Amino acid sequence: MSGGHERLERNIGLMAVLIAAVISVGGFVEIVPLIVGSHMEQPAPGVVPLSAIQTAGRDVYLREGCYNCHSQQVRSLDDETLRYGPYAIAGESVYDHPFQWGSKRTGPDLSRVGGRYSDDWHRVHLMNARDVVPESNMPGYPWLAEDRLDGDEVTAMMTALRRVGVPYSDSEIAGAKAAVDGKSKLDALIAYLQSLKASPREPIAAAMNPTQTKSAP
Ligand code: HEC
Repeated sequence: MSGGHERLERNIGLMAVLIAAVISVGGFVEIVPLIVGSHMEQPAPGVVPLSAIQTAGRDVYLREGCYNCHSQQVRSLDDETLRYGPYAIAGESVYDHPFQWGSKRTGPDLSRVGGRYSDDWHRVHLMNARDVVPESNMPGYPWLAEDRLDGDEVTAMMTALRRVGVPYSDSEIAGAKAAVDGKSKLDALIAYLQSLKASPREPIAAAMNPTQTKSAP
């Protein structure tokens, strides 16, 4: 057995062929369900497109680069689910173009932050985080309170999102301008943050998820 292994490791040509075979099978098995299965494109239960003001807030989130310090993806590991809540599933991001999973966590994951704090807490925190979290190194964004939203821009965003599959109705798009009238970018960003919640889980997923079945020790 070990003789065979040694022969294989010394025969670089055979080794290369077998490595290619292993990677091909692995890649194939990973990619095929994504191509043929539709569950990746189906919204998870309770997942609905963002409202006009939340869409505007999401744009602020992208523009200010919040994703450079915050992820929006809870991994299926106990330490993650105990801290943040139910782990992420594909159906939660179907309307998120581009998705905000991120890869850097200077600050905490934000995908379940909705409802955790009041709007007033966010207002103070986004103006100057040190006022509520003294040790925070998050930058302040005071100009967002002054900047007004541009209704035409929000209409254009929703139209573009509909083009890539977000099911906005004509009346939702027509009402976007009025919905954001007079609101600040800070109002919009807070509305977006408050929308970030886990989708309700099927019993099987809940059973696999410690935060929903037992309390933390
Ligand atoms: C330089 C990195 C950095 C950037 C950029 C950043 N944050 Fe943070 N954020 C942090 C850190 C660190 C914390 C934890 C300390 C605190 O609560 O302030 C945090 C905390 C938060 C929290 C509280 C989360 C919780 O569960 O307690 C929210 C909400 C938040 N950030 C939103 C934002 C938004 C929105 C933006 C973009 C406008 C942003 N952050 C940009 C570093 C950052």
